[in-house]
Amino acid sequence: MSKLYLRTFGCQMSEYDSQKIADVLRAAHGTERTEQPEDADVIVFNTCSVREKAQEKVFADLGRVRHLKRANPGLMIAVGGCVASQEGAAIIERAPFVDVVFGPQTLHRLPELLARRRASGEPQVDISFPLIEKFDSLPAPREAGRNAGASAFVTIMEGCSKYCSFCVVPYTRGEEVSRPFADVLAEVAALAAQGVKEVTLLGQNVNAWRGSIAGSTGDFAELVAFVSEVDGIERIRYTTSHPREFTQRLIDAHAALPKLAPHVHLPVQSGSDRVLAAMKRGYTTLEYRSIIRRLRGAQADISVTSDFIIGFPGESEADFDATLKLARDLRFDEAYCFVYSARPGTPAAELPDRLPPEQKLARLHRLQAQIEAQAAAFAERMVGSVERVLVEGRSRRGDGLAGRTGNNRIVNFPGGEELIGRFVDVRISACAAHTLRGELAR
Ligand code: SAM
Ligand code: F3S
Repeated sequence: MSKLYLRTFGCQMSEYDSQKIADVLRAAHGTERTEQPEDADVIVFNTCSVREKAQEKVFADLGRVRHLKRANPGLMIAVGGCVASQEGAAIIERAPFVDVVFGPQTLHRLPELLARRRASGEPQVDISFPLIEKFDSLPAPREAGRNAGASAFVTIMEGCSKYCSFCVVPYTRGEEVSRPFADVLAEVAALAAQGVKEVTLLGQNVNAWRGSIAGSTGDFAELVAFVSEVDGIERIRYTTSHPREFTQRLIDAHAALPKLAPHVHLPVQSGSDRVLAAMKRGYTTLEYRSIIRRLRGAQADISVTSDFIIGFPGESEADFDATLKLARDLRFDEAYCFVYSARPGTPAAELPDRLPPEQKLARLHRLQAQIEAQAAAFAERMVGSVERVLVEGRSRRGDGLAGRTGNNRIVNFPGGEELIGRFVDVRISACAAHTLRGELAR
């Protein structure tokens, strides 16, 4: 049986694509995963080019598996994902031992590309954007993700048409393409029939989803309402949403649909209107604040998390202070904070960037420290509450169970394995930096 060694670099979309790459090879050849590159017949690096660091790491790591081809001449090395999409054949020029280069939109063609490489002896590059073809050719859904069995990801749209001035995604993953309504519902229903209880609707701009519902154009809020009608699905999450697409209907859905988890990940990027305009984000801080205020009105205990970019070209001390203030005012209870990374081909890469790297890092650490403190305060407020928890498995220490609350916090608590994959009520008794402790509430 052939073996696949698969490494993922970067974001959640890449993680999801990696699962699909493994599914595609399993369906085509019964290929199983291995954690040892030495045992593999196929090595796949699934890459991310959102920041420069991840991109450079790919080439360093490719160098480390090159020698395996000497011991196993039949070994195939493939590079997929956004670096592949951006660099194309240049990857083979820089690393001539690479056999196949494929993009996020052509991962379903990987078995065919490997076969062509074997038959022709020529390296294969396919980084095209065949739009909806990928959705149609992926194997049937399997339970996937962190708590395989009870929770699954469902991609409902791909790509991005927002063209923020700093971001490569529209160039590497293509424009927004929504998956048809009937296909999404069929996949959710199939997952529910397999015993899945929680679905996470996934997309680069998930709330930009549009589709035909009963003959007229439907939006993301309507889609969520239909998903919540599927028997067996008890909790719905979605990520990542965009402020510009955050409609009042979606806010109302948070009030109306009890299955919709009380958590929204809504990247803001900066607290300065000047910087937001230069980033071409398409909203002001006032508009962003208004979304959060209305969301809290709809679902009082909702957890709001975000993404920030620090040190965007021209970011002044006053701009950064505005970011700190926004993060404090809106009580984000977690955030991914990144130092700006100039990406070739994006408009922002042309802007003068005079802030020394050590100052950017100092700002990053200040924001991270503030958000850590906010996260700790949020966790403390949860102590004493009873939370509906989906049990994911044994806790890391192995002395009990671990599950996830509606607001996306991990809770460890004592309990037997028969509870894995079920929803239980847990009373939160204590909190540590990133995890909560609790007991089953009877
Ligand atoms: N669709 C999402 C949104 O609404 O903004 C973001 C998707 S993006 C791939 C994930 C995150 O990476 C962004 O929110 C941003 O914070 C970060 N990011 C993107 N380009 C970046 C860059 N050039 N430098 C640093 N961080 C970047
Ligand atoms: Fe990137 Fe902006 Fe789209 S961050 S993924 S271009 S919304």
